[in-house]
Amino acid sequence: MSALLDGLQAHARRLDGMPLVRLLQDDPARAREFALRCGPLYASFARQRYDRAALDALFAIAERADLAGALRRLLDGDTVNPTEARPALHSALRGAATGSAFALAARAQALAAQLRMRELIDALAAGPVTDIVSIGIGGSDLGPRLVVDALAKPDARFNVHFISNVDGHAAQRVLASLAPARTAAVMISKTFTTQETLLNGAIVRDWLGDDTRLYAVSTNAARVAEFGIPPERTLPMWDWVGGRYSLWSAVGFPIALALGMQRFEQLLEGAAALDAHAVTAPLRENLPAWHALTAVWNRNGLHAATQAVLPYDERLRLLPAYLQQLVMESLGKRVHLDGREVGIDTVPVWWGGAGTDTQHSFFQALHQGTQVVPVDFIGVLRAEHPFAANHAALLANLLAQSEALANGQDSEDPHRRYPGNRPSTLLLLEALTPQALGMLIALYEHSVYLQSVLWEINAFDQFGVELGKQLAHRLLPAVQGRGGAAAQVHDPVTCALLDELRAGEAPGAA
Ligand code: F6P
Repeated sequence: MSALLDGLQAHARRLDGMPLVRLLQDDPARAREFALRCGPLYASFARQRYDRAALDALFAIAERADLAGALRRLLDGDTVNPTEARPALHSALRGAATGSAFALAARAQALAAQLRMRELIDALAAGPVTDIVSIGIGGSDLGPRLVVDALAKPDARFNVHFISNVDGHAAQRVLASLAPARTAAVMISKTFTTQETLLNGAIVRDWLGDDTRLYAVSTNAARVAEFGIPPERTLPMWDWVGGRYSLWSAVGFPIALALGMQRFEQLLEGAAALDAHAVTAPLRENLPAWHALTAVWNRNGLHAATQAVLPYDERLRLLPAYLQQLVMESLGKRVHLDGREVGIDTVPVWWGGAGTDTQHSFFQALHQGTQVVPVDFIGVLRAEHPFAANHAALLANLLAQSEALANGQDSEDPHRRYPGNRPSTLLLLEALTPQALGMLIALYEHSVYLQSVLWEINAFDQFGVELGKQLAHRLLPAVQGRGGAAAQVHDPVTCALLDELRAGEAPGAA
């Protein structure tokens, strides 16, 4: 057990077998008092399985871990990513640049890049281009894809499309409906060494025919130039921004193209407001702190192996996929910052989907399965469509599911019994504006960081993804059947599988 988390499990044991219904009966005020508001964002933690004494213990842990100081250090540009000797200054991209000279310099670079983005967008808008293809993967794809899917309007100046998967069907599908003469493309890669992006970029470059409509976003100007994209069509990225925290940078170029620069800036403003809240609100009123402490309580107190995120808003259907990278790439770690084994569970599996579709797929397991799955429900109070009956039904379902999971329902028939006692957090946005979405994403970013502080792990590296990439590079010649390459493969299972591959259709055949 991490020393910081001492005391948490004693409360979990004390509350074991205490139903949520009882917690609410004994302390009805918690319905309103275990809730916080930050601008258009309201969060209720009243259906979490802690009581006031357990919460006191959690906030004592937060004090001991100096969560407030950790947030300040993050925004100041301290080296919060020590294994790569870097700060993580995504906050500087959206306005919050506190004291340190490094953070202020980062802010200046971010503003200069925004200016360049605006110029490039204006130039594109003056021409014949109607469609943009964004090519990137992971942090260079999921954030822009989420925001564009959530906020782009049908009458936008540009339709933005995304290609990420190295599977050629991805490029084939996107390009099938587009005309090269009316399309521009942007390759987004912090490193510009990512196999998927380079292969897909090459496909799109050939398809475009005229590579003057090919743009790049990267830290690696040399590799971009080698690929054939000149500096005037390249937007910068920096080592002080992590890929999965980068949608606020020029990685958000597709967002700015789809939404317009003004709404992109509103997204940044929302995130900046959440940054300001995070560093100024006392811990007891601090939304990221509540969210992070709840996550750690559910993982290390209740031993929840998974966490579901269920947006009750079609526009947020990509949020679970986005959060999977943000949370699991950040917190999927097994050693402390100093290299010692953590010795307790860190990140659970994050998964989810949009309500109400998911009610008709996996909710059976949420209500009656043997595993308790904590849920983040997300709702949007005001819809932007005229179908009032649908919106009322959507919100009624959201409220009903959280209540049913918490309270359950008894029955003499065990098959019809709902055990209840299944925790959830409710996050409600007034409307899905760029500001509100910016706040919501920034809330998760800061919660993730604070969880990493509580677990004393590094939220900003991702060495775990490297081995598979290296092996894939090594195996490529053997898969392509290049002379002698198969002999270099020493793993017997891989050898057998390569034989299967060779027995099947030749790779790359149309
Ligand atoms: O494979 C993981 C990863 O390194 C992510 O962290 C990153 O967001 C993604 O690959 C893409 O990397 P890049 O932006 O360098 O192409």
